[in-house]
Amino acid sequence: MRVLGIETSCDETGVALYDTEHGLLADALYSQVAMHADFGGVVPELASRDHTRKLLPLIQEVLDDAGLGRADLDGIAYTAGPGLVGALMVGAATAHGMARALGIPVLGVHHMEGHLLAPMLEDAPPAFPFVALLVSGGHTQLVAVGGLGDYRLLGESVDDAAGEAFDKTAKLLGLPYPGGPQVARLAESGDPSRFRFPRPMTDRPGLDFSFSGLKTHTLTTVNALREAGTLDDAGRADIARAFEDAVIDTLAIKCRRALDETGLERLVVAGGVSANVRLRERLDGELAKRRARAYYPRGRFCTDNGAMIAYVGAQRLLAGERDADAMLATPRWPLAELKAPATAS
Ligand code: KG4
Ligand code: ZN
Repeated sequence: MRVLGIETSCDETGVALYDTEHGLLADALYSQVAMHADFGGVVPELASRDHTRKLLPLIQEVLDDAGLGRADLDGIAYTAGPGLVGALMVGAATAHGMARALGIPVLGVHHMEGHLLAPMLEDAPPAFPFVALLVSGGHTQLVAVGGLGDYRLLGESVDDAAGEAFDKTAKLLGLPYPGGPQVARLAESGDPSRFRFPRPMTDRPGLDFSFSGLKTHTLTTVNALREAGTLDDAGRADIARAFEDAVIDTLAIKCRRALDETGLERLVVAGGVSANVRLRERLDGELAKRRARAYYPRGRFCTDNGAMIAYVGAQRLLAGERDADAMLATPRWPLAELKAPATAS
């Protein structure tokens, strides 16, 4: 079954073609980052308009890359939420319009289920069951995954998401949006021994996270250096390093706990922050000690992309799921509400 996947939940227009027999056939991405950078963050109305401009040309591009035409499609999947409602509606309306014209099934899928299963696009995908750490700009969650649609929430952030904390720290340090990769780059030259930032909620049991206090700690440190006249390049790098170390340590401690509690030996790490190289090194080291293994998407499938949506859509369409006539755009949609397809074993 050949499925076209469409992702327009935020600031990337992602399109891909996934074949349930032959795997990923083509994928294309247009990032709006440069457009939003002037505003220091995503401007929802501009995002929707840009998706409208870029989506159809990208669909044509992936079809051309795969040497296929629209008539070769067997189904269409699109991100139905969570995300920015206007941006979601561009993908949803396009998917429903095309599917109606072609007489093929269409399905709205969950953006975080896409991230969660993105490692399935790699050569050695994880087998079920596993623990997933989802770390994106909007979510930080630990999930026990039994199979497609079998998701038990183990813990999540009670305030800021890890990616959001990276983005806010970048702003405090005068770095452009999106901040995660910028903070990570700056941290490389930072002195890890100069500051020690708190590891929030690691001193008590449980698998929830909180990153807003860490943001305040970063702000206080930036202000202290500024007042002392020592907020130079080295000072900024040392702060970036202390912040990154605190986030990584916190995530690693909670992952260890989640594996202990569930007795599972496989950890999937996905979402934008899973692109962080030092996070991967730390988790790999941690897991090697316990004969467990971590699985990640390739770099470009850590952040938003159409391939993960095509993959999830293909699994569910193959199992017989499809939308009714109405398109879906659901800005808030808890992952734990998802169900396994009725025909899945
Ligand atoms: O999954 P994603 O593309 O979008 C959402 O669904 O939110 O994640 C974007 C987030 C941003 O907050 C970005 O700063 C962060 O992922 N990010 C990183 C890195 N690359 C992207 N954070 C830390 N280190 C990175 N290398
Ligand atoms: Zn995402």
